[in-house]
Amino acid sequence: MYHHGNKVIDEHRQGEALMLTHEGKKKLYIESYGCQMNFSDSEIVASILSKEGYATTKNPEEADLVLLNTCSIREKAEQTVRNRLSHFHAIKKQNPDVKIGILGCMAERIKEKLLEEEKLVDIVVGPDAYRDLPNLIKEAEDGRKAVNVLLSKEETYGDVNPVRLGGNGVTAFISIMRGCDNMCTFCVVPFTRGRERSRNPQSIIDEAKMLQDAGYKEITLLGQNVDSYLWYGGGLKKDFAKASEIAKASAVRFAQLLRSVAEAVPGMRIRFSTSNPQDMTEDVLHTIAAYDNICKYIHLPVQSGSSRILKAMNRGHNREQYIELVDKIRKIIPDCGLSHDMITGFPGETEEDHQDTLSLMEYVKYDFGYMFKYSERPGTYAARHFKDDVPDEVKTRRLTEIIDLQQKHSLYRNQQHIGKIEEVLIEGISKRSNEHWFGRNTQNTVVVFPKENAKPGDLVKVKILECTSATLLGQIVH
Ligand code: 5AD
Ligand code: SF4
Repeated sequence: MYHHGNKVIDEHRQGEALMLTHEGKKKLYIESYGCQMNFSDSEIVASILSKEGYATTKNPEEADLVLLNTCSIREKAEQTVRNRLSHFHAIKKQNPDVKIGILGCMAERIKEKLLEEEKLVDIVVGPDAYRDLPNLIKEAEDGRKAVNVLLSKEETYGDVNPVRLGGNGVTAFISIMRGCDNMCTFCVVPFTRGRERSRNPQSIIDEAKMLQDAGYKEITLLGQNVDSYLWYGGGLKKDFAKASEIAKASAVRFAQLLRSVAEAVPGMRIRFSTSNPQDMTEDVLHTIAAYDNICKYIHLPVQSGSSRILKAMNRGHNREQYIELVDKIRKIIPDCGLSHDMITGFPGETEEDHQDTLSLMEYVKYDFGYMFKYSERPGTYAARHFKDDVPDEVKTRRLTEIIDLQQKHSLYRNQQHIGKIEEVLIEGISKRSNEHWFGRNTQNTVVVFPKENAKPGDLVKVKILECTSATLLGQIVH
């Protein structure tokens, strides 16, 4: 995968352990894999368990409870977790009392069978059952295997105040909706995270204000499908038609939520992820354009440039509609950064379909992208109805071609910033040098520059002087 920016799946954070500093009687070690939503969920889990007297530790050897928050999006993601699990054998040998739990999408997909497949595991908990963790842990402590993989119609963890100790103190996630109703034929998410439901907007605004008070400077509103946000008093999106007239009339959609958050915390930068082309509305674009503190960046997965493949993927948009949306974005938000997700080697993908993908990329010239080989997921429509018939070497070759093209476009886009003075929020020390800060401009491109007297959390003006395909290099201007 080519990685950059506000990643869907941040390779650098895979397996990151979350740290809570306050003291507790018992010690929790929690690792996260997968998307931002999972990292955000781990903060909710740590919060729920802190009320049970758990403090987190970075050292699994001293833990009473080891939790892995897992991802099922591709087979490789699951394999990573299984490999990682084998490392905990030694720990369990040393301390037979330690309990090991699998959370998240793998737990939901494989359910109690995980207990048979991975003898080490004591607890299996799906994404909607984290409030049940205290009970499940007690069951496990009593020597029983504990499983809860119930999906919920209401659960949004809206009232849980996540602990924020894995991050940089500058940027934070706020989860605004859960689940996905789109049913793309390749995707396991509707099965692992259930149906779409949205969180109470007031609790989102309250959380944003709390983060502002705590000194945070940027929030990312998170959901599998943020443009589909719909609050009408709670409940599944699909049940909206059954709601009362009053509930319908006072419903809050994504554009309105964005406006409310932008106005509630005017000093904060606001980002959001992920958008789906078929659910994005024009009023969202006008809202982004209208507020200085909403970042001009949209992660807009497309998955393929071929209308034939998009149809087989059940994407709800074709190539022309996607291009129309991109044109509209460019018109309403002229400087908008755009990124994509792309899959190569979906069942039946021909060389011509692949050329359509390359030509779509050529048209849009994305700032960055996340590209993957198709991985068949058990239970999905594609797995049940289509043959995974593109040979692996063909998938790999096509993937290399789109990655190379993306690299070219990233360089092209980055070159357009040279000579400009841009606002950059400093997030921390650059990986390449201790003397440099790194931050992001509004388009979410990483900018690296000499520290001077600035500090993390500062919004500084940087003159862009040079670039690579991944990074802009510049200097603070006063
Ligand atoms: N195989 C490969 N990539 C997938 N994605 C989702 N499901 C699969 C799959 N079965 C990719 C999509 C999605 C991103 C999060 O992961 O591009 O947008
Ligand atoms: Fe992985 Fe998708 Fe689950 Fe996130 S929602 S953890 S990307 S399977």
